[in-house]
Amino acid sequence: MAKRKRTQATSSQIENFLLPQKKHYRQRAHANPFSDHSLDYPSSPGVIHWASHYPAFHDTGKIPEFADIGCGFGGLLIALAPLFPDVLMLGMEIRVQVSQYVEDRIAALRVTASESSAGIDAIPHDYQNVSVVRANAMKFLPNYFSKHSLSSLFFLFPDPHFKSRKHKARIISPTLLAEYAFVLRPGGIVYTITDVKDLHEWMKVHLTAFPLFEPVDEETLRKEGKGPIIDAVYTSTEEGKKVQRNGGDKWLACFRRVQVSRNS
Ligand SMILES: C[S@@+](CC[C@H](N)C(=O)[O-])C[C@H]1O[C@@H](n2cnc3c(N)ncnc32)[C@H](O)[C@@H]1O
Repeated sequence: MAKRKRTQATSSQIENFLLPQKKHYRQRAHANPFSDHSLDYPSSPGVIHWASHYPAFHDTGKIPEFADIGCGFGGLLIALAPLFPDVLMLGMEIRVQVSQYVEDRIAALRVTASESSAGIDAIPHDYQNVSVVRANAMKFLPNYFSKHSLSSLFFLFPDPHFKSRKHKARIISPTLLAEYAFVLRPGGIVYTITDVKDLHEWMKVHLTAFPLFEPVDEETLRKEGKGPIIDAVYTSTEEGKKVQRNGGDKWLACFRRVQVSRNS
């Protein structure tokens, strides 16, 4: 009797079939961070139904601990998810099509993982710990994250807003640093990276001048075991990959949220 041909799909075939394609999510390069975009926001972090974002964690009481601000197409979240399977991570992205792409990408990866656990073939992670919201992080960050709830805050290749009159649109700005310090717990880390030297200097100057942040170098963070995070910051995002392809420089600057004693 002729042998039956094996027709089971591999996980990469399933992934290719399910994963969204960027060409179907075209959108303008920039969204105005000062417009209200007619978005609905939670009135406070306490009213957010995190179980709908992270169903597999619904009975754990966990809330997001890593936030990727301006997550773009979600490369950092996808890279970090398997490295920190018990940490919930949230991407914030202002552009509607881009945030939809990330949502669809995560949904596809979750399905692929459940197919593989049905026996098709092995896949290392189920991506239950990552999610995304369409939100203007410059206006509504504290609506999503409560005081000291985050251990890591990422600003990877933020929009440079080159012209001086546009600097107020930069996501690292003196007025927003108090919000970042509010949501980040003492000891937590702000990671910034850019290929624009002027923006790198700008972020360094403002974060260093702010009393609740202190600069921390890459070597120190690697010694503390944060090497895999740093590697992902350099290489995992779509923008970072583009810079790499074009042979551009990448400027990293990281800051630790300082603990302040009430008596000092
Ligand atoms: C240059 S892209 C970098 C994306 C991603 N971090 C990466 O490295 O590939 C900057 C992203 O930040 C988003 N963004 C800009 N301002 C924002 C805001 N106020 N709130 C949320 N997202 C914002 C933009 O829509 C864009 O996707």
